[in-house]
Amino acid sequence: MYAERVLSGMRPTGRLHLGHYHGVLKNWVKLQAEYPCLFFVADWHALTTAYDSPQIIADSVWEMLVDWLAAGVDPQKATFFIQSRVPAHAELHLLMSMFCPLGWLERVPTYKDQQEKLEHKDLSTYGFLGYPLLMSADILLYRADKVPVGEDQLPHVEFTREIARRFNHLYGREPGFEDNAKEAMKKLGAKNARLYAELRTRFQQEGDNAAREQGRVLIEDAKSLGHVDRERLHGYLEGTGKMVLVEPGALLTEAPRMPGLDGQKMSKSYGNTIFLREEADSISKKIRTMQTDPARVRRTDPGDPDKCPVWQFHLIYSDDGVRAWVQDGCRSAGIGCLECKQPVIDAILKEQAVMRERAQPYVENPALLRRIMAEGCERASELAEETMRDVRAAMGLSYS
Ligand code: TRP
Ligand code: SF4
Repeated sequence: MYAERVLSGMRPTGRLHLGHYHGVLKNWVKLQAEYPCLFFVADWHALTTAYDSPQIIADSVWEMLVDWLAAGVDPQKATFFIQSRVPAHAELHLLMSMFCPLGWLERVPTYKDQQEKLEHKDLSTYGFLGYPLLMSADILLYRADKVPVGEDQLPHVEFTREIARRFNHLYGREPGFEDNAKEAMKKLGAKNARLYAELRTRFQQEGDNAAREQGRVLIEDAKSLGHVDRERLHGYLEGTGKMVLVEPGALLTEAPRMPGLDGQKMSKSYGNTIFLREEADSISKKIRTMQTDPARVRRTDPGDPDKCPVWQFHLIYSDDGVRAWVQDGCRSAGIGCLECKQPVIDAILKEQAVMRERAQPYVENPALLRRIMAEGCERASELAEETMRDVRAAMGLSYS
């Protein structure tokens, strides 16, 4: 069976912090072992909101790549690239803008939310409105099956599915589709081809959904089929034609909520972050001075871990033994807050030491970074070109 493809992107907006590590990068590391993955720097996305501060983008791109590598995302396993270096993202975005209803964009929940949240900025721009469509182009260009995202991005993946459906509805059927589908059927082997034909009839003539489901399984289980024939047979089964674009599914990242030093969500705009590869002294100092239960004014006052951001860190970094020690010691005033923080400091420094070590070769030799990106961009361009050939043909733009 062909392996499902995973794609995700990140905006280059400055240094990454522990929130990115625990919320996103650790998940990428896990996924790269299970699927072919594409991870990209969404530099055009950064411009949709930061069009007036382009200077941070180029610097952040290379720093961000070092952080990815430091976290253990591996260019031997996954493909890394930069969005703007694969211009097909722009081409697909433009082509889809022809049939993307304005109302769909206006109704994406982040559109009004972000405008209100970032009200110091004028976001009544064409690019900002179209940002979900650009994200759709990112995903559909690679026929990605799975898109790991946080909760805030789920509506964008749903939007992408709707765009793919609309595209396939408008342009889905390739020329000569029936003949191609019948050829593909032969690759199922005589027995399965007969079964497939029967299931198709039962679904299309009698609306038998169980038959459709059985047909889908049959197609997915057929090891002899390539990606394109598989799509054809799905389309022929359902009566829709070959799907030029593949509807992606979201993979909701179930990450522990990484609190900032003040207990709010860790975010650069709150100034409550610990950066990846931050100096050890600076990290120790930040944690030693971070907030604790406000009721614990003196060492002799008992405290409540549920009211203390340090406890949130223990939930991420400490084992059951340490957690029990914190619970008892805090509530009985048996331990002091500095004492309580020490295991967290140790755990973070240990985690960071590994990251620093992984990053070292790239910090010393930035040419390595350029090479990783050049190779990744080339590979991504090839994949993108496969899709664009079909898209151009479907939209009447292939000339010979
Ligand atoms: N929109 C995402 C963000 O702001 C980044 C992104 C752009 C993305 N294109 C994507 C994520 C495609 C997943 C897939 O965080
Ligand atoms: Fe927080 Fe630990 Fe101090 Fe309790 S002892 S208030 S959990 S830092």
